[in-house]
Amino acid sequence: MTPHTDRMRSHPPDGRFGGLWADLAGIGRDALRGGYARHGFDDADLQLREWFVEQARRRGLDTETDRNGNLWAWWGSPGPNAVVTGSHLDSVPGGGAFDGPLGVVSALLAVDELRLRGVRPAVPLALVCFAEEEGGRFGLPCLGSRLLVGAIDPDAARRLRDGDGISVADAMQRAGVDPAGAGPDPQRLAGIGAFVELHIEQGRLLRAADPTAAIGVGSSIVAHGRWRITVSGQGNHAGTTAPRDRHDPMIPAAGAVLAARRVIQAHPGAVATVGRLQPIPGGTNVIASSVDVWLDVRHGAAADTSALVDEILHEARAEAELEGCDLRVHRESMTDQVTFDPALTMDLSARLGAPAVPTGAGHDAGLLAPHVPTAMLFVRNPSGVSHAPDEYAETQDCLTGVRALADTLEGLLAPEAVPR
Ligand code: GLV
Ligand code: MN
Ligand code: MN
Repeated sequence: MTPHTDRMRSHPPDGRFGGLWADLAGIGRDALRGGYARHGFDDADLQLREWFVEQARRRGLDTETDRNGNLWAWWGSPGPNAVVTGSHLDSVPGGGAFDGPLGVVSALLAVDELRLRGVRPAVPLALVCFAEEEGGRFGLPCLGSRLLVGAIDPDAARRLRDGDGISVADAMQRAGVDPAGAGPDPQRLAGIGAFVELHIEQGRLLRAADPTAAIGVGSSIVAHGRWRITVSGQGNHAGTTAPRDRHDPMIPAAGAVLAARRVIQAHPGAVATVGRLQPIPGGTNVIASSVDVWLDVRHGAAADTSALVDEILHEARAEAELEGCDLRVHRESMTDQVTFDPALTMDLSARLGAPAVPTGAGHDAGLLAPHVPTAMLFVRNPSGVSHAPDEYAETQDCLTGVRALADTLEGLLAPEAVPR
């Protein structure tokens, strides 16, 4: 379990990046899985949020927490046509250091860079940290941005529970956010003139487009959703239950895993993953009474994704019937495909000399894109590995990312860029 350790130590060590990166390095380490466990409103997340507020304060930025627990730091008074940049601070379980925090650190450093350049913004600039982007605690990805744009019923969001039974409402309350206020924030959304999220690249599409490019521009995100499949059978003794007497829910659960692989093989470009599975009660010498299987599927538009899930479930149901088990399905989330603002994307790609590439990863930028002109910048990830401790980007590429973000913001903050 050591290959990631060197990577984890080799956070960008020097220069402007080093200090901020070192601040974060020790927060929320996942002792069990390696990497980080930072989840919406947990202790590590609250520490990271305090750190962000302090960094904003040092830069003379006014901070606020919005009604959905997202953090904002303002250069200039909040007002119309604001240019917004940022990302998230939470991680997946055992996640890497870069997914999320790189966009937040780069946003802070871009402010420093713009000030060094003597830029005087013609419109407000806001830095944002969206809450619980990964859905690692409450199961729903992009919780904060989803609530902001009204893509989830606030009551349903408040009721979501983590593995310990703590609700979103309770977690928000503990973080000092009044859960009763959670929900769509049309006024805030209408005040955003443009949103740009910088992120480490996940996968290998940037390298495929141009192996020499340190920076890419995001063109689109594929539709993606999460389903919880609950298979119920008969809990029993592993040693005394004859094969003909078993109703073992693990068999259809395994069937669902294999069906997912079979189905995507027939659909080029599609991906399906079971990264989480929970047998109840979970004993080596116990036939489970039920098994929860979480299925993540991504393909084309929402209808394409749902069609694949139907195929997978068709096979899983057949397995459940053969085993004499019951199978129920709950869709936890669905996010349709998005195309980022074509004019902004083309302009950035040309100005930064960065190829435009699609991604299979979800982002808060994907939630904002249907509402405000949105773009993404990707920083080269040599291995493509993400959502794992080995996730990594070179310091030089991160600094190139900061400059590219500063260039992007400088263009958007110029008087001639402001719509009249
Ligand atoms: C989040 O990063 C996701 O793509 O699931
Ligand atoms: Mn992620
Ligand atoms: Mn992310």
